[in-house]
Amino acid sequence: MSWLRPLGQTGLTVSALGLGTVKLGRNEGVKYPAQFTLPDDSAARSLLSLARELGINLIDTAPAYGSSEERLGELLAGHREDWIICTKVGEEFDAGQSRFDFTPEHTRYSVERSLARLRCDHLDVVLVHSDGNDMDIVTRMGTLEALADLKREGKLRSFGLSGKTVEGGLAALPQCDLLMVTYNLSERDQVPLLDACAAQGKGALIKKALASGHLDNLPKGDDGGDLDPVTASMELVFGHPGTTAAVIGTITPDHLTSNVEAARKALAD
Ligand SMILES: NC(=O)c1ccc[n+]([C@@H]2O[C@H](COP(=O)([O-])OP(=O)(O)OC[C@H]3O[C@@H](n4cnc5c(N)ncnc54)[C@H](OP(=O)(O)O)[C@@H]3O)[C@@H](O)[C@H]2O)c1
Repeated sequence: MSWLRPLGQTGLTVSALGLGTVKLGRNEGVKYPAQFTLPDDSAARSLLSLARELGINLIDTAPAYGSSEERLGELLAGHREDWIICTKVGEEFDAGQSRFDFTPEHTRYSVERSLARLRCDHLDVVLVHSDGNDMDIVTRMGTLEALADLKREGKLRSFGLSGKTVEGGLAALPQCDLLMVTYNLSERDQVPLLDACAAQGKGALIKKALASGHLDNLPKGDDGGDLDPVTASMELVFGHPGTTAAVIGTITPDHLTSNVEAARKALAD
């Protein structure tokens, strides 16, 4: 399988690994195994350059990731065309607290604000950042309809749901270009969404492929346990034909390099 792949039928081409950027903008209220400080601008710039050198063109952010969008706006200035930018709508994070707003009005406001923060005239991918009430969002809130309008207006190229339930993902899929799906060695319950994306030719981005860094007690891979947890995770994620790309969050350059190596190997197998 190739490193660069079509994101469903969006016309966008993304690298098999994307860079998640929670850790560029927020270090409170997160579920990573260890405390960390946000990288300074010089470290963040080096990380982004390394990602590009390694062949990564997909970057994932969100309004709920603290200063991530604003920082990327500055850090990617002059290099916007090198990246496929994915951001989200629906979750806000202020003063250490998440709150959610899925109304069409807020959706439009949020997309306009992301355009300003990221300093661009269009967003490549916008995902609904679900609070878990996926069915409510899909059937009652009008969020996906608002995103469809914004797509028609040229403000975004594609949209989908980053949800928490299989039922919600399946309900959203007919209206969406892609889904963001949790899939790792200890959380496999969203596999039906990957199956559906594969069957319908839709894009599927994986979140938490490395179980948010909780690698110590992961169940063994399908090989029976000979592989290290990162390699086993990549084999799992890229072993499913529905996977377009895995968005992995890292601020450690060595991890970025070894993740790309493991992903390329899994794709070659
Ligand atoms: N609801 C949503 O839409 C949603 C929810 C969660 C995540 N996401 C997106 O998906 C991305 C990934 O999710 P995630 O960050 O929760 O989980 P993840 O990618 O599974 O794991 C990230 C954690 O794993 C560590 N890590 C990365 N590579 C490693 C390696 N080779 N060896 C050891 N540890 C390694 C990172 O630490 P280092 O920094 O030290 O490498 C980081 O703490 C996020 O950044 C975000 O963009 C979206």
